[in-house]
Amino acid sequence: MLEALATQPADALLALIKLHNADPRADKIDLGVGVYRTGDGATPVFKAIKAAEARLLETQNSKAYLGPEGDMGFVHALIPYVFGADFDTTRVEGMQAPGGTGAVRLAIEVAKRAGAKRILMGTPSWPNHAQIVAAAGLELVTFRHVTPEGTADLDALKAALAAAGEGDVVLLHGCCHNPSGVDYTRAQWDEIAPLLAERGIMPLIDLAYQGLGEGMEADAYGLRKVLAHVPEALVAYSCDKNFGLYRDRVGAFYAVTSDADALARAMANGATIARASWSMPPDHGAAAVRIILNDKDLTAQWLAELDDMRDRMRWVRDRLASAQQVGAIPMGPLGTQNGLFSMLPLSSEQILALREKHGVYMAGSGRINIAGLTTGNIEKFIDALRDVA
Ligand code: LMR
Repeated sequence: MLEALATQPADALLALIKLHNADPRADKIDLGVGVYRTGDGATPVFKAIKAAEARLLETQNSKAYLGPEGDMGFVHALIPYVFGADFDTTRVEGMQAPGGTGAVRLAIEVAKRAGAKRILMGTPSWPNHAQIVAAAGLELVTFRHVTPEGTADLDALKAALAAAGEGDVVLLHGCCHNPSGVDYTRAQWDEIAPLLAERGIMPLIDLAYQGLGEGMEADAYGLRKVLAHVPEALVAYSCDKNFGLYRDRVGAFYAVTSDADALARAMANGATIARASWSMPPDHGAAAVRIILNDKDLTAQWLAELDDMRDRMRWVRDRLASAQQVGAIPMGPLGTQNGLFSMLPLSSEQILALREKHGVYMAGSGRINIAGLTTGNIEKFIDALRDVA
């Protein structure tokens, strides 16, 4: 039977990790998969996480099942950070998910059960978004996310919303757009939020990089603005980046509604989907996050570590932007973009030349992981870019 299976292309981004690992050059530069790196090129465990894990080791006295919702202490502890300290908590409920991917999948499957047929999404987007929509069997409707001038394309979103209607879901990146780094501005969110309400379109906000753009509060601006207008929304949240928990797979799915009964049903459906998919989410990372968020000192330490990450990425962006123009590539916009990623307008030949000739690894889309650049390699990277661009 298995011989009937179609061959599958390798996931390009994950294949890049292997290619990079196999490259023997000592001065190779990994700008591929989205993990934060320090100025030494390392991806260490947060000190706050280490401390929380030590406490977990000491105090955890059972590993008995928690249930498909996972650690609800974790889910609830995140709510003020995501939705704001003043948010009406009777409107929101959530459940733990295996990473941001699990949260996006849950949100889309719940939307499907609620009758959604189409997911509207700006492109380019994180390639897995389209894959998840396809796996859920929904139709994907795309619109342009970035204008030729490099700003977020509000007109394209407006046109997509105008052509959509009830039963449609629009997937929006809450902050630190992956892969472009181009976020909607506050003024744009101010226009988007009432429009969503007016058109009756359900937002699904993917917030996978909170704190890596301008800060925990600032990065939630769009999400909170939208929730101040719409009656219902879905949120997919990831702690994989802002707590550095990548492989521990720590995420959460939230539904927001003003109808308590609908909220309970959204969660019950989410729990059924989780049960049939992974049964229960992995516990360890979420438990560590809960311990941090319930402890003032650990929270302060975590936020300080997040500040350091953001400052370093800002330094990289400033240095890249100061190069102004590298060959045909305008570098200025990188300075105002947010988060781990930006896209360089490079052809596939140029991307291949960067890899083969200079040992610079980046996604085939021209996306670079800003955090892969350090004082030790950034000048080499700019020179390599100049060589191919
Ligand atoms: C990325 O886009 O590099 C990250 O979100 C990692 C992933 O799962 O693709």
